[in-house]
Amino acid sequence: MKREQWGSRAGFILAAVGSAIGLGNIWRFPYMAYENGGGAFFIPYLFAMLTAGIPFMIMEFGMGHKYRGSAPKTLSKINAKYEWLGWFQVMIAAVIAVYYVAVIGWAISYLSMSFTQSWGTDTNAYFFNEYLQLGDNSPTKLGSIQWHIAIPMVIAWAITFVAIFGGVKAGIERASKIMMPLLFIMVLALIGRMVFLPGALDGLNYLFQPDFSKTMDPKVWSAAYGQIFFTLSVGFAIMLAYSSYLPEKSDINNNAVMTVLINCGFSIVAGILIFSILGYMAQEQGKELTEVVSAGVGLAFVTIPAAINLLPAPYILGPLFFFALVVAGLSSHISILEAVTSALIDKLNWSRKKAASIVCGIGLVISMAFATNGGLLLLDLVDYFMNNIALLASCLIELLIMGWLVKISDIRSYVNKISEFSIGVWFEICIRFVSPVLLAIIIGTNIVNTVNDGYGGYATSDLLMLGWGLVAAMLFVGIIINKSSKEA
Ligand code: ALA
Repeated sequence: MKREQWGSRAGFILAAVGSAIGLGNIWRFPYMAYENGGGAFFIPYLFAMLTAGIPFMIMEFGMGHKYRGSAPKTLSKINAKYEWLGWFQVMIAAVIAVYYVAVIGWAISYLSMSFTQSWGTDTNAYFFNEYLQLGDNSPTKLGSIQWHIAIPMVIAWAITFVAIFGGVKAGIERASKIMMPLLFIMVLALIGRMVFLPGALDGLNYLFQPDFSKTMDPKVWSAAYGQIFFTLSVGFAIMLAYSSYLPEKSDINNNAVMTVLINCGFSIVAGILIFSILGYMAQEQGKELTEVVSAGVGLAFVTIPAAINLLPAPYILGPLFFFALVVAGLSSHISILEAVTSALIDKLNWSRKKAASIVCGIGLVISMAFATNGGLLLLDLVDYFMNNIALLASCLIELLIMGWLVKISDIRSYVNKISEFSIGVWFEICIRFVSPVLLAIIIGTNIVNTVNDGYGGYATSDLLMLGWGLVAAMLFVGIIINKSSKEA
């Protein structure tokens, strides 16, 4: 069967950018930058972008294009021994997909509430007590399914399903061509209004004010590297699948650099947007910005709703913000699921329709765990292990395989032959030395810290089962599939 292809270069770029730009850019990046040294965070962030992000993207686009397969197929074509890494990456994507959709579901709920700001004035109590109904649950004591969370998640699944079921060109590319321009217009409209609000510039000062002492802290480097891999959708099977649908004549280097720069540029724009809103809110309430900002999910679902309450024309700006969040999330969710779907199509020779139905069907059922009272806690715990342990480890192993066990110079000459501009030997230095050394230090530190201090105050048994246990099970399954392929 002939492999599906993108209809146009612009279609591919929009899909790749759609995958990269997601929830990670809008609520994760601004808070990370703020917490990890403000303006000084840009030093490790840009360093990670240049030495890891760009080379990794060129490498994955080159691999996908050359070997024309999903992650497991591409890696097994490089050498049958490496197929397990592809499956490990597919499983990271599958796990991320089932909790990522919960956040999109919350955003859909908040979109509907934003027209009248029905979240009320105490947005913190509203989010945790009324909306999530958190109670005294834990990641293993989940409570029951909350249908007001489950239903918007089903809507998100339905949109993802339609795109993947439709195929590369008629489904994913078409969805990206609608979603991405819409997202850019919404964000530009929002930012055009927000930066002129009183206090906005104070917010930006907070975001960009550098605290250079933080650049010596390994945690800040870990945050920068983790953010770069997550935000660029590399190392978890997505960009390999997307680039495997490129036509033969494709400018790999240009496409890769463009995708990275558009994504990271968007993150900075999102940071400016969020911190303009926070600066305005602090001024309105006569508080310090540090008193109004909150972390992680709290930023998008507690702080921003509170800020929307204070905005002029909240019934326009509120829906714009949450609609942008939904669109950014959906286009990434589509790509995360495509990474899984394409692997099954390649491996089992299933039709796309069958693979899409099974993947989305099972995904929907599993994701309901995150629609429960304790869903947020489960999400937080699993997300931590996926991003800080599994994804970084997967990236390190991919770098070691490509840099040391196969000839990375072959990939460099391959991409240079088909691209408009050539990349120099710096590419190999980054893939073989700079990125693996830094990543090894970061993962080592993360593992030691997590073993010693745990995470988030969760019970050791929860960490063992849903954190370490899950990562180990994913590795084990990957190895088993690899072994059975070799024997078959
Ligand atoms: N790259 C996607 C994001 O940043 C997964 O959310």
